Amino acid sequence: MSSVVGYIGKNYSWDFVVDALARLEYRGYDAAGFACLDVANKHLLYAKAVGPLQNLIDKVADKIIDGHVGIGHTRWATHGASTEVNAHPQFDEHKRLAVVHNGIIENHHSLRAQLKREGHEFISQTDTEVLAHYLEFALGTTQNEKISDLIVSVVERLQGAYAFIALLQERPDLLIAVRKGSSLCIGIGEDEFFVASDPIAFAGRTEKMIFMPDESFALILPDEVFLYDFEGNRLMFSVESVDVAWEEKGHDFESDMLKEIYEQKQALNATASFYKQLHQRDGLWRSLNYDRNKVKQLKHINLFACGTSWHAARIGKFFFELIAQTHADVSLASELRYMPFFPQENSLYVALSQSGETADTLEALRMINGMKLPTAVITNVAASIMVREAQGFLLLKAGPERSVCSTKAFTSEIGLLYLLAHFIALEKGLIDQAQLDKAYRNLFIAAQALESTLERYRNDLMLSLAPKYAKYEKFLFIGRHIMYPLALESALKLKEISYLFAQCSPAGELKHGALAMIDENVPVIIYSHLDPLIYKKLVANAQEIKARNGHLIIFGFNGQEELKEMADCFFAVPQVDPLLGPLAMSGLMQSFVYYIAKELGRPVDRPRNVAKTITVE
Ligand code: M6R
Repeated sequence: MSSVVGYIGKNYSWDFVVDALARLEYRGYDAAGFACLDVANKHLLYAKAVGPLQNLIDKVADKIIDGHVGIGHTRWATHGASTEVNAHPQFDEHKRLAVVHNGIIENHHSLRAQLKREGHEFISQTDTEVLAHYLEFALGTTQNEKISDLIVSVVERLQGAYAFIALLQERPDLLIAVRKGSSLCIGIGEDEFFVASDPIAFAGRTEKMIFMPDESFALILPDEVFLYDFEGNRLMFSVESVDVAWEEKGHDFESDMLKEIYEQKQALNATASFYKQLHQRDGLWRSLNYDRNKVKQLKHINLFACGTSWHAARIGKFFFELIAQTHADVSLASELRYMPFFPQENSLYVALSQSGETADTLEALRMINGMKLPTAVITNVAASIMVREAQGFLLLKAGPERSVCSTKAFTSEIGLLYLLAHFIALEKGLIDQAQLDKAYRNLFIAAQALESTLERYRNDLMLSLAPKYAKYEKFLFIGRHIMYPLALESALKLKEISYLFAQCSPAGELKHGALAMIDENVPVIIYSHLDPLIYKKLVANAQEIKARNGHLIIFGFNGQEELKEMADCFFAVPQVDPLLGPLAMSGLMQSFVYYIAKELGRPVDRPRNVAKTITVE
């Protein structure tokens, strides 16, 4: 997803901007750009390039484009194709100002029409160019106005969620940073300031930062920052000290995704031991900001998320209902805001988001916060916007996840939800300490099972299975009960990184339609279950598929002989607590999909068209 960065101060800006953009690369983008005022502060210089950041670096290599104030951007196309013209920075007609922007200016059509009537001509299809022209228009029509009043008049007209940074040729001592909805923070150095949409950009440069409040803007001079609300009132701000962990790239794995698949056992164990201690120290409910006594009355958990996190939430529903006897609803955050909403008493509303920045989830969180209902977020990123806005939070202990395709965050979410259900059950008197201790052990065993399958099947997957299955064009994934969300997750994973067509159905629904798809060209992937009744029904589903000449790939558990006999390809996973079946099978499922994508030559860490952090709705 797009990232914005900016610099003003004693040093040259290019180094910081490029470094920062490289750190934010994992979020996904398709073009990059840089603009600055030259050293003499006379001219606006810029460069843009489609494709990886390296293309921009190569382009700038032989010319010196640098200055003490600069901005940069990586763009994930929303308005208009990925072309150099559409890449940011965008400019006003006379190239007196440059803007980099995240998010969407929703009323850009009407602004564009208004500006066209005033004689403006546009060269790109972006909403950002409209913003640049509108800034120019505001500058031109206001005389002797304070720059803060001018920004107020601009933001009054803008609709949507956005963060932008602008520099003006006439004001080489100034960087303007504006945020509404999207995140933006300012890093404080020695006689220099950094601006970025994600504090990871500041790693190694400063730990002191200002998180700009929503609907605020900053006028940043080389030695001072002024912060305002959207009405132009000066805001006091606090400087926070944040240790932004940044692991330099470089490992022995062929990709980030493979590395992250292999880190899952460690991530799960770290999650279990951290939350064991937090719970023992009574810190869990404090972190969730949910009164311990209220937990006893807790009637509903409402989980909301997108994509892979939504699948983890759907698995979590089983934990809350079966372990903590607490009704759980799961909503797609991208739909939640547009559906009738029935606030419930004795509820907790929990957002799940690896990044803590996904716009759909964030907006749903804001909506629920606005109703004064108790909210919390489960996320992997401590410095994320959701941690600041939710009333409580629980952090995953997965470590940074860089691959666009989420793996270890997914299993860490499952692990944490499993523990949370046990913590609630303990408070409600449904389980005792010994059962909680068993839950920690169960998690450890499942993490161990996950890892053992990676090694066991690695060669088969790489050498024979991936080459074989990469030749198929369509796949059908099925599962029942708690394994159905895993089937959904698998179909998403296959689509995301291999670009193959994948469909998912609850196994019991096959006969209501999807069975018509079955023939020898559509492998059906079944995720088995350890519950004897559900297992029996799955065996029947497998027979129905075989009877129609279907090709069966089965992820089963050790000892499930009927399924094994029917399978064209059978993966055996060690038996674990049945509720942790999805966790135990996740690593192998991810590897299966991974090696198919590799076989097809796909860029697994950066699949086309998708980004790591989706900051637009
Ligand atoms: O950061 P989040 O967990 O909020 O992200 C939600 C989805 O965009 C994300 O899980 C997406 O589906 C993954 N790329 C799938 O691998």
